[in-house]
Amino acid sequence: MNKTILVTGGCRSGKSKYALKLANSRPGKKFFLATAQPLDEEMAERIQKHRQERGKEWVTFEEPINLADVFKKLDDDPQSVLILDCLTLWISNLLMESTPKEKLLGYVNEWLDCCSRFKGTLICITNEVGAGIVPENPLGREFRDLAGEINQQVADRFDEVILTVSGVPVTIKTSAKSEDVAGQNDRINHEFSPAKKAGLYEAIYGRRDVRQFNPNPVPFEALEKILNAAHHAGSVGFMQPWNFIVIDDPEVKERVVQNFSEANEEASRHYSGDRKDLYSSLKLEGIREAPINICITCDRERSGPHVLGRNSVPDTDIFSTCCAVQNLWLAARAEGLGVGWVSILSMEKLKEVLAIPEEIVPVAYLCVGYTDHFLKQPLLEKVGWADRLPMNKLIYHNQWNENSKGFLQ
Ligand SMILES: Cc1cc2nc3c(=O)[nH]c(=O)nc-3n(C[C@H](O)[C@H](O)[C@H](O)COP(=O)(O)O)c2cc1C
Repeated sequence: MNKTILVTGGCRSGKSKYALKLANSRPGKKFFLATAQPLDEEMAERIQKHRQERGKEWVTFEEPINLADVFKKLDDDPQSVLILDCLTLWISNLLMESTPKEKLLGYVNEWLDCCSRFKGTLICITNEVGAGIVPENPLGREFRDLAGEINQQVADRFDEVILTVSGVPVTIKTSAKSEDVAGQNDRINHEFSPAKKAGLYEAIYGRRDVRQFNPNPVPFEALEKILNAAHHAGSVGFMQPWNFIVIDDPEVKERVVQNFSEANEEASRHYSGDRKDLYSSLKLEGIREAPINICITCDRERSGPHVLGRNSVPDTDIFSTCCAVQNLWLAARAEGLGVGWVSILSMEKLKEVLAIPEEIVPVAYLCVGYTDHFLKQPLLEKVGWADRLPMNKLIYHNQWNENSKGFLQ
């Protein structure tokens, strides 16, 4: 299915790099239509450099004026990708040939028709030229105005518009069709569209352990969504060993607070001096304030005595339950809900309070609700309790070997 993407941005904002990355992530034939003309040595060198960067699998056309002619030479393979680099240079080439405005706009329309007939993915690069000062000479002003007008026209007709700023691509337009095609591409490449990826990583990096909640109630639909996300976690032998106890009764919560206070008192004995003072100053639970508490449990006998994949590592049922907790935590972040894991509890007493049967293991006690602030960094990092370890120092190559650290650098 045809898909048209406009990549726009300022000079050196990362447009071409992004367009190439996008194109290279697709499986089909790659075409590059360059509108630049090697008018001087510097330009010729640049063009040559870009050709080399693209690699041999790319077929390059150099055409400063008759874009429609090039489109006739492209094949009909829906998997093929064409990068047009760039629209503004084409406009400038036409202006330099003293093409009257009406004629120039006619060429643009003709080219737009070619774009909709093109069967593959078309990525067109353009420049945002209107953000700077007003050009001094009339030709410069004409160029700026025309480029702005044409960009608008193209953005209107194209399925997707991406703005690159300081190397960061921001999706500023998607259409139902583009989502459909993105879905299709997901199926071809198994890769998410940039917008979907951004959402996923935002949830991962923006997830926080939250201990401060506001009293806004958690809507039933949001609760259902996060529980369902938890229920879709991976589990050993598809055992799904979890249950969820949703708690909103203040009396039950009060008994859990009591449990926490005793466990916390005990835990604080492990610290002394400044560390103890710091520990005592930390808020380590939000049981009362959070409108909802959820206890996630693991039924270790859910699938009988033998579970596929659990023979050698019996604790994989507990690991599976932790996967459910993480799913809930991430989905909650996407829903704007904070989650705080409270493990400073006697699990025996918790079982008693929540009437959990003997054979069931409570894995996580979570406080859930809306919060007025998601911290940018973990609270324990912010107060100087611990730092995030450098990732590179945690990665070995092939074997547990100190010398192989730094593999990712
Ligand atoms: C298994 C587990 C138990 C935790 N128990 C507590 C707890 O009892 N109290 C608390 O304040 N935070 C608890 N946390 C939250 C961690 O302190 C927090 O995840 C860590 O500091 C990193 O911060 P972040 O989650 O905001 O990225 C727990 C987290 C996990 C994964």
